[in-house]
Amino acid sequence: MKEIVVSGIRPTGNLHLGNYFGAVKSFLQMQHDYNCYFFIADWHSLTTHPHPDNIRRSVKTILAEYLACGIDPELATIYIQSDVREVAELYLYLNMNAYLGELERVTSFKDKVRKQPDNVNAGLLTYPSLMAADIIIHKAVKVPVGKDQEQNMEMARKFARRFNTIYDVDCFPEPDSFHLSEKAVKVPGLDGSGKMGKSEGNAIYLIDDESTIKKKVMKAVTDSGPTVPNSEKPEAIQNLFSLMDIVSEKETYDFFNDQYNNCAIRYGDMKKQLAVDINAFCAPIRERILEIQSNDAYLDEVARAGAERARISAQKTIREVREIIGFRAE
Ligand code: TRP
Repeated sequence: MKEIVVSGIRPTGNLHLGNYFGAVKSFLQMQHDYNCYFFIADWHSLTTHPHPDNIRRSVKTILAEYLACGIDPELATIYIQSDVREVAELYLYLNMNAYLGELERVTSFKDKVRKQPDNVNAGLLTYPSLMAADIIIHKAVKVPVGKDQEQNMEMARKFARRFNTIYDVDCFPEPDSFHLSEKAVKVPGLDGSGKMGKSEGNAIYLIDDESTIKKKVMKAVTDSGPTVPNSEKPEAIQNLFSLMDIVSEKETYDFFNDQYNNCAIRYGDMKKQLAVDINAFCAPIRERILEIQSNDAYLDEVARAGAERARISAQKTIREVREIIGFRAE
């Protein structure tokens, strides 16, 4: 039996190269090694956007992008959170044993209170119990998440343990985090510092067309070039080389690296080449995104089949939970 993995995807924004080499690549590997449940967390998005415009559309866009990257609905169960109502029932039970004090202490809750003081809703407060329900509904043991999710993961373990203790059962395993950032290639952004996606406009999206890629790369921050051979690269320059290391041939990288070391680098030429290589990398994915996105029937079918599989697993857990608490199982 393969170990069970669950991960939730926020339906915000398009995928960029940083996401691709981070979460997406891990998912691509994990779908072979584990019994994976990947879902789009559309209920969670109501905590910040009570009336999202066209949530169906943005969910489908994300779904199309993950499929285009190679998430295989035959290997992994990919579904939309709101299609699996059993999660909401488990969320209700978990909330009955989730305490105000511990929920209020969660850092991301405190951040949200600061960010949206006019909408401090119960969904925001109980975000960790919904996330716990997402995970333990399938009795997952591994959860690929970013480091920023560690506190939510601690809460998920706590809620799983607490349920077992209160009802004196061994129903839920405690899910382990599987830190994506430690395993993944780090993709820098184009604005001279930090990771791709950290700030607005420093990212290349998988959906960006050739001319958009070129424009973004040509605008990337550089300097006037080294004057001393073999000097250390400033961060902005190192970032361009790191990107080149990810998408270009080794010969290309070595060529520009030698030029840099000889103080003969022409950043314009380097960026042109980088744009070409990024485009060559993205083009086949982009074409698949466009093709899948325009195939509504296919997307609907993937979502339907995913929900069906996820519900089989979720219903099994909910039946057990209802019985444990003392409700009628069906
Ligand atoms: N909180 C996660 C994030 O912001 C998304 C998420 C929701 C999730 N439910 C989950 C991740 C369950 C892993 C497992 O990225």
